[in-house]
Amino acid sequence: MDGDLIKLVNKLQDTFHNLGAPDVGGELDMPQLVVVGSQSAGKSSVLETIVGRDFLPRGQGIVTRRPLVLQLIHTPADSGAPDAEWASFLHVDKRFTDFDEIRKEIEAETFRVAGQNKGISKLPINLKIYSPNVLDLTLVDLPGLTKIPVGDQPSDIERQIRNLVTDYISKPNSVILSVSAANVDLANSDSLKLARTVDPQGRRTIGVLTKLDLMDAGTNALDILMGRVYALKLGFIGVVNRSQQDINVNKPLTDALKHEDEFFRNHPAYRNVAHKNGTRYLARTLNQVLLNHIRDKLPDMKARLNTLMGQTQQELNSFGDAASFGDANQQSSLILRLMTQFARDFTSSIDGTSNAIS
Ligand code: GDP
Ligand code: NA
Ligand code: MG
Repeated sequence: MDGDLIKLVNKLQDTFHNLGAPDVGGELDMPQLVVVGSQSAGKSSVLETIVGRDFLPRGQGIVTRRPLVLQLIHTPADSGAPDAEWASFLHVDKRFTDFDEIRKEIEAETFRVAGQNKGISKLPINLKIYSPNVLDLTLVDLPGLTKIPVGDQPSDIERQIRNLVTDYISKPNSVILSVSAANVDLANSDSLKLARTVDPQGRRTIGVLTKLDLMDAGTNALDILMGRVYALKLGFIGVVNRSQQDINVNKPLTDALKHEDEFFRNHPAYRNVAHKNGTRYLARTLNQVLLNHIRDKLPDMKARLNTLMGQTQQELNSFGDAASFGDANQQSSLILRLMTQFARDFTSSIDGTSNAIS
């Protein structure tokens, strides 16, 4: 049932996307985890270790130029499917099993909409990954916060990215995954600063501290990880991702996870908190946080769905007779039908009844 809740929310997200109305403005304000950090803070690395696969475009400068809505869907290992792990995009009708091809598709789709240069676009790319190795999660990857335009980037690129990120994290239903590098003073963390503007109490921000292995010898981040430096209700979780050298020599992610485990277990400062850090703990925590968040928001989401259904019904009525039957009418009717169906699934999954939302 827990997994079902996340799947239902994912379905609603898809429905709106397919109707040409991706939930950018956030009328529905879907519960989701939004990844925020400066360029090179380690956002892509964190996402890839959570998924356990290499599939994100990488390179110098600004690589993520459109929001990537990443739905991870747990599938049983013995489901009998020919490929245990596969992926699909909403914008193309194809089943991807080669993760290099996924990277190429993200790149192509980025170029198609956001252009060849370093511009950004608000239009999200929707990717689903089915795997026995993931927990049900919805994550949104966003362009990294940047200070100085490079190459032919527009001079206001910093503001554009801040606005895009703020759009996503200001929604009350977003949980903010604020990624900061441990080898940079936390007081200079752009993502924590930005998160604080929309979540001043730190109620829905999780801190992720990367690059613990790159801190100066003799220093450590234990105080930050223990919550003694910067107060976040959901706390800080430390991780060690692959270094650039690891990536250059194609170090497998499984080896990287082992290395990370050993790092925490053998480190004199982190030994006692090893079980509350690392990528695996991060993934489990995120899954739990997302579930709790969805539960908290259910009454709200029900009310919003009801309002939307009422509006759609009114619109439908205003079209009147068959003479005005057209695209708009068909679309509204489709939306209404899908929302009604969703509302039924939704309600029955929550309280075991199959009545429409009440
Ligand atoms: P993004 O721009 O935030 O998506 O950052 P990336 O994930 O692309 O990482 C930027 C660079 O930092 C890459 O060369 C990574 O290999 C490196 N990196 C990220 N996390 C860590 C870490 O925990 N330890 C080390 N040594 N390198 C890391
Ligand atoms: Na970044
Ligand atoms: Mg990146």
